[in-house]
This record gives sequence, structure tokens and C-alpha cells, in this order.
Amino acid sequence: MNSLSPQIKFIGTEDDNLGLFEAQYPVQSGISYNSYLIIDDKIAVVDSVDVRRCGDWIDSMSTALSETGREPDYLIVQHMEPDHSGSIKSLIKHYPDIKILCTQRASSMLANFFEDVDFSDRICQVADGDTLSLGRTLLRFITAPMVHWPEVMVTLDETDRILFSADAFGSFAMSSSPVKDAWDSEARRYYANIVGRFGPSVQALMKKLTSLEFDCVAPLHGPVLRENLAHYWKLYDKWSRYEPETTGVLVAYASIYGGTAEAARRVASELQTAGVEEVVLMDLCRHDVSYAVAEAFRLSHMVLCSVTYDGSLFPAMHNFLHHLEMKKLAHRRVALVENGSWAPVAGRLMAAELAKLKDVTVVAPTLTINSRLHHDDMPAVKALAESLMS
Ligand code: FEO
Repeated sequence: MNSLSPQIKFIGTEDDNLGLFEAQYPVQSGISYNSYLIIDDKIAVVDSVDVRRCGDWIDSMSTALSETGREPDYLIVQHMEPDHSGSIKSLIKHYPDIKILCTQRASSMLANFFEDVDFSDRICQVADGDTLSLGRTLLRFITAPMVHWPEVMVTLDETDRILFSADAFGSFAMSSSPVKDAWDSEARRYYANIVGRFGPSVQALMKKLTSLEFDCVAPLHGPVLRENLAHYWKLYDKWSRYEPETTGVLVAYASIYGGTAEAARRVASELQTAGVEEVVLMDLCRHDVSYAVAEAFRLSHMVLCSVTYDGSLFPAMHNFLHHLEMKKLAHRRVALVENGSWAPVAGRLMAAELAKLKDVTVVAPTLTINSRLHHDDMPAVKALAESLMS
């Protein structure tokens, strides 16, 4: 069993057979539901796990507790989303005397999720800044509303300088993944798609955390972060301000028979010729949209290329733009390529969707191609690349 410190055991579980997290995000290698056991004069469990892995979780906890001959005194509920609260009922069955520490908002959610459980005399509500001594260990609770749900709080172990960060600093990578290999890309995809909409709330939490001291971040998904915290902090700051990580272009396309894809490839090639170092070409019909959203958060510019379909946008492009609106992407520069064999409208419709985003500039003019890219279109392709990067 992994330990964060001699007193703090990792008792999280990994689900390598889930397929789609939140019924929508592909997780090829699975997802981890992290949970921690703090063993002191009093024993606290930090969050439960998805009900799919309840058995593994209870087993890990029992193994860790067997060395003590005691039962847990507290469950700290930082987040009520079912992937972290789903096993609470089983925990209470195993340990009927356990108390639950959570925010006022979480206590009403508990009643909604588990109407057949009697929580009276079990719940201790905590407010922002409240502390709890477990003996040697002093915990401080810090509310973090809308990082990702309204009831969220994070917990600082002031003794061991560990921040239990709930969804913040989480990742689609497994908890056992090497941090260096996996964190940036899978944490970015997790952040952009799950927490992305709530940038101002993340900024508010980061402001609270600035004055606190910790050397280790223990999130509810993905690896525990022990080194290089400044790097992860910097990325989180950029993502939550909707600032790109780097100058580069995401060329995202929705093509039916290849004509629009060919135009996208030519635009990408022209951008590379013009000296843009990072050009990422992404087929929205074949890549899951969560990867495209993550790249949109990472890069400073986009070229969106869509065929017209049924007098509207092709669904894959419409879906991508809908996701960008949900996640509130901002501060980007975008060029448009539309295709149509008789009445192209994709450019106008993409511009209308982008107008819903804050501080997103659409460079003029839209490049319109008729069925396929033609030799005569090449000067316009070059001009589009130049005006995007100017
Ligand atoms: Fe994994 Fe918002 O929870």
C-alpha cells in the first residue's frame, strides 16, 4: 500500500474497465478514484470512491486499519459527485459510528443522494477555515465552491503540509501513472473538459491557497503530486485564466468526403511554412471532442474548417463549438474555412457560435471553397495563414 506519510495511506482504487468517464470522456487506461486514510489518535478517511470500486476500497481500508485494531472516526466529504460519494452508504454499514465532516451544501446533497440513510447525529458541518485536530495532525478546511460543484471543499493537512485538493489538480491519468509522462496532457484534458467552465472559481481557490504552505497535492483523480509543484500551479493558473500555454494553431476540421480535410491540411502546411512551430491538425469526426477541447485550451490560435450540411454546420463541428461555449474558452484568434457545393453557410454559422465566446477574434475574410480546394484558392490560403498570425 502506498503512503503519503507514515500516518497517511493511499486507499484509492483504479477502474480500468470504465470506457467512458462521466458517460462521455474516453479513458483508455481507466480512471482512478483517490481516497486517503489519516491514522492518528483519531482516524479520518478523505472521500469515498465510485460504487463500482466500493469492494476494493473497503478492503484496502480494512487492511490499513487492521494494523491499528480501530475503526475510522471521520469521513471527510470534499465533493459529492457520485464518483467520490458513491460508497458512503457502504462505509456507514461497515463503520456505523463514523461521523461525516462536510460543508452545509454537501449535507443537503447527502440527503438527496441517500434518502434511505439517516444522517442525523452523524454530520458535522464545517465552514471555510475551520480546523480539526486528529491528535498530531491538524486539518484545515477550505471551501472551494464550483471547483467543480458548489459543495466542494479542499483540506490542508498543516502538519504534513499535504493539500487534499478534491477535483483541483486532478487528471485522467491513473494514480499509478508516472507523473512526468502523463500529467500535463491528461490533466489538461481533465481540467478543460470537467473544470474548464469554472475558471473564476479556480482562480478564487488559488488565491486562498497562495498564503498556505504545502509540499504535496493529493487530488481525487490521478497521481499525487510531490515535486515540481510550481509547474502544475503555473499550468492551472493559465488554464483558469483561459490563457494559452503556447503560441500555436489548432486546425480542427469536419469533413465528409475529404474536400474540407484537404483544405485543412493545406492551411496547416501553409502555417508551418510561415514559421508557426506548433500546428496540430485534428479530425473532429474521428477524434473525441475532449481532445480537441484540451488542444483549444493549450494553443493560442485556431483554424476551424467545416463543410456545410443540411443548410447547417456538420454535426462534429457544431458539437466542438458547443463544447467550447460550455467550457467558456476565451481570448483566442480564429480563422474560418467553409466548404459547400452549392450554398455554403458554415462560415457564417461558425462565426455566430464563436461570437458567444469572450474575447475571441475571428479574422476576415472566411475562406470559402467550392466542393474542393482549387489551384486558384492557394493565394487565399496563404492570406488566411498570414492574417491569422498577424
Ligand atoms: Fe471526480 Fe467532480 O468529480
